[in-house]
Amino acid sequence: MQVEATAPGKMILFGEHSVVYRGPAVVLAIDRRARVYVSRRDDRKVYVDADNLGFSGYFEDDVYHAVRGKVWRGRNLAALNVAAKKTMDHLGVESGVNLKVRSMIPIAVGLGSSAAICVATVGAVERLFDADLSKEEISRLAFEGETIIHGKPSGVDNTVSTFGGVLSYERDSGIKHHKLDLSMPFIIGNTWKKRSTRKMVESVAALKERNPALMDSIIDAMGGIAGEGLDALLAKDIHRIGDLMNMNHGLLSAIGVSTMKLEALVYTARQNGALGAKLTGAGGGGCMIAVAEEEKMSAVEKAIRRRKSESYRVQLTDRGVESRWIEEENADT
Ligand code: MEV
Repeated sequence: MQVEATAPGKMILFGEHSVVYRGPAVVLAIDRRARVYVSRRDDRKVYVDADNLGFSGYFEDDVYHAVRGKVWRGRNLAALNVAAKKTMDHLGVESGVNLKVRSMIPIAVGLGSSAAICVATVGAVERLFDADLSKEEISRLAFEGETIIHGKPSGVDNTVSTFGGVLSYERDSGIKHHKLDLSMPFIIGNTWKKRSTRKMVESVAALKERNPALMDSIIDAMGGIAGEGLDALLAKDIHRIGDLMNMNHGLLSAIGVSTMKLEALVYTARQNGALGAKLTGAGGGGCMIAVAEEEKMSAVEKAIRRRKSESYRVQLTDRGVESRWIEEENADT
């Protein structure tokens, strides 16, 4: 027997980057999930099978040994080693584990794939050892893995992936859950350009260091937009959501995290009927999101695709981290 755990990706509607300094960020769990299978080992190794990404290997005393793919790939997997080990330490368990990772969330494009994989890892490991950790504890342990990848993340990604649903998040005061009719679809446009969240967050910090007063007012404005954006979302006022997304995008460009490709997709979406469009996540590449009235959605998606980018709709989901025991042969490979 082994445990399967899944956790959703996310979409930041308002407040990326500003949430690192002040809140809120308005963030939604989306219907694309990371899946992690876990079983016990007799030794203390943490074996990670990411074969569908072309690499696998194991950590022994935190040192990565490649079995498939190059050794440097261990950097991508180190977060999972940390998430698994911190969870076992927390439970007072001395063991090794086999982790098999399969994810439907595109990697390094702002949709929270690394957080979802960390959350699913913690969710799987805690169930494997029959613990009954709270979601708060799962999120906190996943955050330790996230820190390996992202440096000083705000914690928003692991939080929404653990709890699901619609959240507003502030680093200090924590999370608020919001009830929303989740049928409202959003359009994603993926530039396919991967980037590092850590580097983007560092570049904003450097700009802030050089321009402290101006950056403070931009960050304050972003936080204000996110606060009003939450009200607009809860009122399902799509026109106001659109206006606020456009304003938020302008400020994200001002702090240097947009790219020509993102701008092209944002303007393409608006020209083809989107009420609002903005980059989502850390920027520097990755994804943009758009809202449009139902009858305009296809035109927006098609226009984004004509720009040689991927476009699809995402639905919001209430489902956060979930885990269950399964027979080994039922694990999809
Ligand atoms: C990344 O998904 C969101 C950022 O705000 C970074 C963070 O909150 O840790 C850019």
